Amino acid sequence: MKVIIAKDYDAMCRRAADLLFAQVVLKPESVLGLATGSTPCGIYAQLVEKYNAGDIDFSRVKTVNLDEYVGLPVENDQSYRYYMNSNLFSKVNVLSDNTNLPNGLARDVSAECERYDGLIKELGGVDMQLLGIGLNGHIGFNEPNDVFDKGTHCVNLTKSTIEANARFFKSIDEVPKQAITMGIKTIMMAKKIILAINGEKKKEIAKAAIYGPVTPKVPASILQMHPDVTVVLDEAAAELIK
Ligand code: PGA
Repeated sequence: MKVIIAKDYDAMCRRAADLLFAQVVLKPESVLGLATGSTPCGIYAQLVEKYNAGDIDFSRVKTVNLDEYVGLPVENDQSYRYYMNSNLFSKVNVLSDNTNLPNGLARDVSAECERYDGLIKELGGVDMQLLGIGLNGHIGFNEPNDVFDKGTHCVNLTKSTIEANARFFKSIDEVPKQAITMGIKTIMMAKKIILAINGEKKKEIAKAAIYGPVTPKVPASILQMHPDVTVVLDEAAAELIK
C-alpha cells in the first residue's frame, strides 16, 4: 500500500483527484469505479474544475459505482444515482449511457447482482476504483462479517451504518435497510484502488485498515493484499499512523 498524508480535506481531495485525472489522461477509455458519501464530494469537485479548465475529457470514460440503496427511486435525492448525477455526471461530458450503478429497484435482486458483475466483466474490469471507508471499516457496503463477501450482493445494513447515514435523511426511519453492493472480490479485481479517508473520527479505523490484521471484521483491511492501492488521508485521519 502506498500511503499519502495530505494536510487537510481539500489537499486530500486534490491528491485523489490527481490520481483519477492521470488515469483518464493516460487511458481516455478508462473504466472508473466510483464511490458516494461525504468523502468523495470534494474529489468530484476537483475533477469538475479540471473539466471546466479543459484539462480532462470524459467522453470515452465508463463508470461503475460501488453500490446503491434498495428501494429508493433514482429521483430520490438520497439515491446514489442522484448523488452521482448532481456531483459529477451532469457537470462533465461523460455519456449517461456509460454510467452504471446497481438498480436498487430491481424486482429480482439476485439477477441484478449477477447482471452487475457481468457488466463489469464485459467492460473489461475496473481500471481505477475510488473507495471511502465506513466508521466500521466497510468498503462499498461490505459490512463487517465472518467471511469476506465475494461478488455483487444485497446486504442488510448494520445499525452503525444506518446511524452514520441518518445525517443525510430527515429521520433515521427513512434510511433504507438494504443495499446492493459490489463484493470484496469485485472490488479487489480492480487494477488500481484509491482509498480516501478524512476526519478525526476515522483515525482508529484508518489505522486498523492499513496496519491491523487482515480480517473480515474490518473489511477494508483486505486492501493490504491488493498489489496497487494508494491510501490518501488528511492529517486528522492519519493521526495514529504518522
Ligand atoms: P462517508 O462514507 O464518506 O460519508 O464518511 C464513507 C463510506 O461509508 O464508505
